[in-house]
Order: sequence, then structure tokens, then C-alpha cells
Amino acid sequence: MNPLKRLGRRRASVLGLLATAALLTPGTATGAPDADRAGTLGAQAAQSGRYFGTAVAAGRLGDGTYAGILDREFNSVTAENEMKWDTTEPSRGSFNFGPGDQIAGRAQARGQRLRGHTLVWHSQLPGWVSSIRDANTLRGVMNNHITTVMNRYKGRIHSWDVVNEAFADGGSGQHRPSVFQNLLGDGFIEQAFRTARSADPGAKLCYNDYNIEDWNAAKTQGVHRMVRDFKARGVPIDCVGLQAHFGTGGPPASFQTTLSNFAALGVDVQITELDIAQASPNAYANTVRACMNVARCTGITVWGIRDSDSWRASENPLLFDRGGNKKPAYNAVLTTLGGTPATTRNAPTATRNALAATSGNPAAPRSAVNAESNLFTRANNVSFPSVA
Ligand code: G3I
Repeated sequence: MNPLKRLGRRRASVLGLLATAALLTPGTATGAPDADRAGTLGAQAAQSGRYFGTAVAAGRLGDGTYAGILDREFNSVTAENEMKWDTTEPSRGSFNFGPGDQIAGRAQARGQRLRGHTLVWHSQLPGWVSSIRDANTLRGVMNNHITTVMNRYKGRIHSWDVVNEAFADGGSGQHRPSVFQNLLGDGFIEQAFRTARSADPGAKLCYNDYNIEDWNAAKTQGVHRMVRDFKARGVPIDCVGLQAHFGTGGPPASFQTTLSNFAALGVDVQITELDIAQASPNAYANTVRACMNVARCTGITVWGIRDSDSWRASENPLLFDRGGNKKPAYNAVLTTLGGTPATTRNAPTATRNALAATSGNPAAPRSAVNAESNLFTRANNVSFPSVA
């Protein structure tokens, strides 16, 4: 009988198996010595060379609970709204970097990396831009915006979402209508990336979108075709951001395939705005595992800290509850990154080792990782003996 199935039946056998697994894998099952296991998301992601970030709202930084979790858990920060066009250039040629600087300066002072979000987007776009009717004017305005904002943060942003959400939903696989598309045509994305490369050659340049996680979706295929074309023609692009705003079921079955297929084009992939309705631990673990299994998946950003900070607060989609307490999904994420949740850090070493084997071994072959994730799901329901 499959030992993993047997494991689900009796708690006693669970603990026995966990101990056996630990004996078979001295040290830890991730291959890292105990001392190398981290107890926070950012520190644990760093063990595999990845970052774990969050969206940050400048208006919440004065909240001690919020700021405390931010600084404890995350090593990358994305401004949720403060670097968007409506904030940074509310009227033509008049730039406002106050809120963006607040987030950038604070992150830099704490050694947190910064993602830039976002330079060209049809939404949160001031009326003076969307009412432009002349292509040459719009091209100049777009290039000036990209250059000025990127210069402000030059050398401080590891990845910029140069263009955000330019593809249409539904089955067309084409760009959506927008002032940029309507006046400049399909070439506006290429133009934006070329301008961005000139402005800050040190930043990774990303195309970022939602609903491109399912490999079978027309939108995913459209973005993949664009990236393939850019790489073939030498248009500068370094990364694809998959937003990953998921429903209760979490990622589609093909999510890892999608990550791999983008990476195979020669770009990094990043999960840029992760949140999952009702925050099922399994759904979070599946998402993180897909990233861990793809070498060029360089980092994960969740779109907010506590449920109450979320743009979809009523769906409780994040890793911390309204009081700032870790939710079960938090432990699932930490374990999948290869870390040890606090609740098990005090358990016997053998138990901890075996539990950590359940979903966090990025070097494991895919089939082994799948088996491990089943083990984690079941073992997660087990209460561990407390240790003095
Ligand atoms: O700043 C004003 C404030 O002055 C005013 O009093 C208040 C009244 O409603 O609104 C405030 O602006 C809001 C802003 O967030 C800041 O809180 C806007 O109404 C609100 O629409 C805006 O929502 C943001 C949304 O993007 C806008 O499209 C969300 O916070 C933000 O999480 C969300 O993020 C986007 C990503 O950028 C791109 N991908 C999708 C993701 C979720 O929609």
C-alpha cells in the first residue's frame, strides 16, 4: 500500500512515518541544515535565491501591526497604488513622487527590494492622458512618463511592470482597446519597453497581467506569442509577471506549465499580485510549489498583508487575518518554501524534519514533490506533542 495513503488513516502511524522519514534524511529533507531553515517568508524564500514580497499602501505604514508584519516577513515591496500614473503625473509634466518615495525610502532603509508598479496601464490613468487624440503627442507623453519615473527610482527597482494588463479578456488573444492601443497601435508595448531599457538599463523589464496563469487560455497564448516575438526580434523584455488573483480553487492545473513555458522563452517569471479567495492552504501551497519547481520563477508577491488590507477584503484572501495573526495558509506557504512554521519549531527534531519534507524541496523531482504535498496536507491536520 502507498505509505502516503496509509498515513491519512491513523494519527499514530503518521507520527511513526514522520519519524522514519526523518531518520532516512538526516539534517533536513530539503538538504539544508536545521540552522539554515528560516521562520519568515522572506528569509525562507531567500534560501532558494527567491524573494517573497507584498504590496504596500503608504497610508497604512503608520499602523504598527501592519508595519511590524511587513518588516518581519517580507523582503520585497510593491507600491500598491503610489507609483501609478494618476499619482506620479496627475497633470502633464507635473510629477508627484511623495507617496512613492515614502514606500521606496522605507523599503530601502530596511534592505527590502522594490518592484515597480506600473508605468503604462489603461487604468488609474489621469483624464488628461486618456483624452489625448494625437499619436505623436501621446508617444511623447508616454516616453516622457516612463523616462521620468524610471529615472527617479533608477538603480533602486529590481523589476518594473513596464506595461500592465494590455491584453483583452476572452478568446481573442489580442490587445484590449485603450488610448495607447487606439492611437499608437500594437507597437506601443514595444515602444514602452525600448524606452524603459534606455531609462534604467539595470532594471528587469516585465510585462504584467492577470488571467494568464492557465496555459490553455487565449489570453495566455497571446502574451506568450508577444514575448516570443520580442525575444526573436531583440525587443528588451526580461520577465513576465503573472498576477495570480485566484478564486477559491487556487491556480489552474496548468499553472506550472505556464510558468515553465514562459521561462523557456528566456525570461524570468514572477508571481506578482497573489491572493486567493478564502485562502485555502492547499491552494496557496500549490501556487508556491509551482514557482519553486521552475528555476526562473524568481519571486512571489502577495497583494497585501492582512485580509482587511486587501482590495478584495470580503473574500479573506491573504496570509494574515484582520488582527495580524498568521492564517493556516501562512504555514502552508512557509512550509512549501522549505521553512518551519513556529507551531512546529518546538516539536521534536524528527517531527520537524519530516514535516518540512512535505512540500518544500525545490530540488525534488516533480512526482516526489506531488507526493510530498499530499503528505503535508494530511500531516497538517495532526496535532503535535508539545515539548517543554
Ligand atoms: O486615493 C483615493 C482616496 O483619496 C479616496 O478617498 C478613496 C475613496 O474611494 O479612493 C482612493 O483611491 C482608491 C485607491 O485604490 C487607493 O486606495 C481607489 O478608489 C481605488 O479604485 C483603488 O483601487 C486599487 C485598484 O488597483 C485600482 O485599479 C487597489 O487599491 C489596488 O489594489 C488595485 O491593484 C490592482 C493592480 O494595480 C493591477 N492588477 C489588479 C489589482 C487589483 O485590482
